[in-house]
Amino acid sequence: MDLNQEKMNLLEQRNQKAFQGGGEERVKKHKQGSRLTARERLQTLLDPGSFVELDRFVTHRCQNFGMADKTIDGDGVITGWGRINGKFVYVYSQDFTVFGGSMSRTQANKILKIQELAMKNGAPIIGINDSGGARIQEGVEALGGYADIFLNNVMASGVVPQISAIMGPSAGGAVYSPSITDFVFMVKDTSYMFVTGPDVIKTVTHEEVTKEELGGAGTHATKSGVAHFAAEDDKHCLLMIRELLNFLPGNNMDDPPKVQTKDDPLRLVEELNTFLPDNAKKPYDMKELVKKVVDESYFLEIHQNYAPNVVVGFARFNGRPVGIVANQPQVLAGCLNIDASKKAARFIRFCDAFNIPIVTFVDVPGFLPGTDQEWNGIITHGAKLLYAYAEATVPKVTVITRKDYGGAYCVMSSKHLRGDVNLAYPSAEIAVMGAEGAVNIIFREALNKASDTDAERSKLTKEYEDKFNNPYIAAELGYIDEVIEPSLTRRRICESLEMLENKRDTNPSKKHGNIPL
Ligand code: HXC
Repeated sequence: MDLNQEKMNLLEQRNQKAFQGGGEERVKKHKQGSRLTARERLQTLLDPGSFVELDRFVTHRCQNFGMADKTIDGDGVITGWGRINGKFVYVYSQDFTVFGGSMSRTQANKILKIQELAMKNGAPIIGINDSGGARIQEGVEALGGYADIFLNNVMASGVVPQISAIMGPSAGGAVYSPSITDFVFMVKDTSYMFVTGPDVIKTVTHEEVTKEELGGAGTHATKSGVAHFAAEDDKHCLLMIRELLNFLPGNNMDDPPKVQTKDDPLRLVEELNTFLPDNAKKPYDMKELVKKVVDESYFLEIHQNYAPNVVVGFARFNGRPVGIVANQPQVLAGCLNIDASKKAARFIRFCDAFNIPIVTFVDVPGFLPGTDQEWNGIITHGAKLLYAYAEATVPKVTVITRKDYGGAYCVMSSKHLRGDVNLAYPSAEIAVMGAEGAVNIIFREALNKASDTDAERSKLTKEYEDKFNNPYIAAELGYIDEVIEPSLTRRRICESLEMLENKRDTNPSKKHGNIPL
C-alpha cells in the first residue's frame, strides 16, 4: 500500500470513528420511538448532500473526574453549514449519545465558530438542542461557554435569523440561548424546557408536576408561548423549519425571497362581499379571510395555539413574503390581551428587522378588561404592540374589516403609527368604543331620567351607531386612505405592496430605544 493510500485510510478510520458518536448502545437507546440521531437530523434538515462538517475531530480538554481518558470526536455537537432549498444556512446539532450532549468549553467553542460565520456571511443559523446542560465535570468553564453563546445570540439578533429546535432536554440556564433566538420549535413528548425541573419545584414549592406538564411542547406552545411550533416528531419538526426558511432573507441587509406564483395579483375575491356576518356581534374566522386573499391560500401560522385571539404568520402576495397580523373575532371576540400583545409585538419586530412587510387585518373591540389583565400589566404589555408598530419602517398595509375601537384603533397599525396604506371595508366601525357602552356613559343622566330607559337606550345607541359605526369619518380625515369593497382586498394589497417596494423610512439615530419590557 502506498503512503498516500495509508493516509487516506487513516482519515477514513478517523471519520468512521467520529460518525459512531457515543457508540452503538447509546445510539440504540436514543433512537427509541421516532427520534433521529444528531446526524440524521441534519440530513433531514438540509438539502441532500449539502452538509459540510467543521471541527469533526475536536475533543474536550477536561482533566477532572477521569475525563482525560474519555474523549469522543466532536465532543457532543456536530457543526457546519449546508443549504435549505439552495440557500446557505449554518447549523449545529447536539448529540445526546456523547456525554448527554452536555455543553463543554470545547462544544461551546464549536458553536461560537458557527455563530460567528453566520454573522460574518449573513446566513441564518439553526441550532438543534438535545443536551443535559452544562458539562458537570467542567464547572465554570462550561458555564462560561454558555454565556459566550448567549452573547453571540444577542449580537446576531436582528442580523441573521436564528432558529432553535428543541429535540430533547433543555434545562437550567441552557434554555436562554433558544429563548433569545427568533423561532423555537419543540417536539411533542420528547422535548422539554424549564429553568428548574420537577424535583426542585417539589422541594421548593411542594407542587407536583410532570416534566411534560411543566415544560413539554404542548405547554410551551399553548401556555407560555416559549415555543412557536410544536411538531409531532423529529422529522416533522425539521421539515417545518425548512418551510419557515422559505419566507426569510439570509440577513438584515437582504430582501425576503420572492417566488413565482400562478395566483393573479388582481384576482377579485367576490365571496368576501358576503363573508362577514350581518350581525356585528357574530364571530367569523379571520384565518379563513386571510387564506382567501393570500397567494394560493398558503398561510404559515406561527404560535397557532398561543394567544389565538391574535393570529400571526407568513404568507405571500404576488410572490412577496409578508408577515400577517390579524385579530381573531372567534376568540375573546378578538380583544387584545397581554399574551396577544406580546405575541404580535415580537412578530412585528422580527418582520421589521428582516425587511418583511406587514399586512394587518383589524377587527378588534379593544383591550380585554379585567383585574387579571390590569394587575399583570396590560398597560406595559399592550404598549409593546404599539411600540413595535410605531418603530417598524417596513411597508405596512392595514385592512379594517369591522370593529376598530378605542386604544386598539391607535395600536393596530393605524395611520398615526406610520401605516402606509390604510384600507377599510364599508362594514368598518371606527369609534372610541362600542355604541352601547358609549351611550351608557355619555347619556347616563338622560337614561336615568327617561320614563322608558330601555327604549331610550335603544334610540340613543342607534343614533351613536349611525354617527360613528362606519369608516367614513376616519376616511374624511384621511386616517383611512380608501374604503373598499371586500372583493378588492387582494388586489389592493398586492398593488400597495408593489407601490411600497422601494419604501425608505428611518427612525431617529439613537443607541437603542427603551421598549416597555
Ligand atoms: C455531563 C451528562 C450530563 C451533564 C447527562 N450526562 N447530562 N454528562 N454533564 N450535564 C451524561 C450521563 O452521565 C450519561 O452518561 C449520558 O449523558 C446520558 O444521560 P442519562 O442520565 O443516562 O440519560 P437520561 O436518563 O435520558 O436522562 C437525561 C437527563 C439527565 C434528564 C438530562 O442526564 C440529567 O438529569 N442530567 C443532568 C442535568 C443537569 O442537572 N444539568 C446541569 C444543569 S445546570 P453515560 O456515560 O452514562 O452514557 C446547567 C447550567 C447552565 O445546565 C447554565 C447556563 C447559564
